[in-house]
Amino acid sequence: MNRQQKAEKGHYLEEGVEIYPGDVAECYEDWETPVTIISDGAYGTGLFPDEPDEIDAVPEWYENHIKAWSEHATPQTTLWFWNTEEGWAEVHPYLKKHGWEYRGCNIWNKGMGHIAGNSNTKKLLKFPQVTEVCVQYVREAEFEGPDGEEMDMQEWVINEWSRSGLTQQEANDACGVADAASRKYLTKGNLWYYPPPKRMEAMAEYANEHGDPAGKPYFAPDGENPVDAEDWKKYRAKFDLDAGITNVWEEGQVNGSERVLEGTKAKHINQKPLRLMRRIIKASTDPGDIVWEPFGGLCTGAVAAKQLGRKCRSAEIVDEFYDAATERLATTELNSEARRCTIGRADGLRNV
Ligand SMILES: C[S@@+](CC[C@H](N)C(=O)[O-])C[C@H]1O[C@@H](n2cnc3c(N)ncnc32)[C@H](O)[C@@H]1O
Repeated sequence: MNRQQKAEKGHYLEEGVEIYPGDVAECYEDWETPVTIISDGAYGTGLFPDEPDEIDAVPEWYENHIKAWSEHATPQTTLWFWNTEEGWAEVHPYLKKHGWEYRGCNIWNKGMGHIAGNSNTKKLLKFPQVTEVCVQYVREAEFEGPDGEEMDMQEWVINEWSRSGLTQQEANDACGVADAASRKYLTKGNLWYYPPPKRMEAMAEYANEHGDPAGKPYFAPDGENPVDAEDWKKYRAKFDLDAGITNVWEEGQVNGSERVLEGTKAKHINQKPLRLMRRIIKASTDPGDIVWEPFGGLCTGAVAAKQLGRKCRSAEIVDEFYDAATERLATTELNSEARRCTIGRADGLRNV
């Protein structure tokens, strides 16, 4: 069945959330540009169709997906890669090879409650494992120098200012700061900072007004139009941090009313906690942004996205999981968590 036929059969598309009942590879071309991609695919456990049952085969399983994500992502896109520590270690070189830059590794600590049945240390000869990881990657923006040479953002900002012939003090004057521009945005070392959008706009305006006329335009990534604050935001992945949250996420295995059941058994062994899905979506997107969830399962990412007023594009290849996910979405209230998150930001509440 091709994508069109599947769509005719009935494919969930309501209130900003799409769930495609089939192979996600058929969707990448059609989906809108993602601001966040949440990957929760193969672990090497052979539990769903085509999932390898050995860890060595996991990177190859991912590679074409990673290539597609790279083609469709922009410098604003964050990728969250869920897996076991070992699965991630195997796949990391492939992510890097296809342009994904490592930002941070978040440890999901499921706690002592997860040990039951997994604690025969005499046999395992290791400490009981109660963690998974959710690793954050971004696509770094690439720029061109005046002779077409490739530059990263730091090189480009420094080079543009230097081309203008202006002094470092003038950069501080342009930004209205004592020394932040020269010390942070124009430094060559690892103490470099991304110039905030308004400051970047101010530096670009100043350079184009006062810089050497021969080299104009300055700070124009397309060679013609100098960046303004809004453009500049697009050259970096979004990230909005809730104070007090670290990279160790203490969260039990999903249970209680959140766990989707079939009789008395879990419907999907990999169901992720909604609270963690909300955390990563909230950190890396704004309301209305597009989230991709290529390997949907019960589509926890889509549920969280809908609760936060984001749009989501998910796919699930197993009919039974697709059906369960659509039922879940149908009973999820749009924006139901968005208000709590806003209050959370203002009041310092962190339970989102
Ligand atoms: C680890 S589970 C995801 C669990 C999900 N995060 C949740 O909270 O329910 C991976 C899911 O991806 C699905 N899957 C695997 N390959 C796929 C593909 N090519 N296209 C769409 N879905 C796929 C599997 O059937 C499985 O349900």
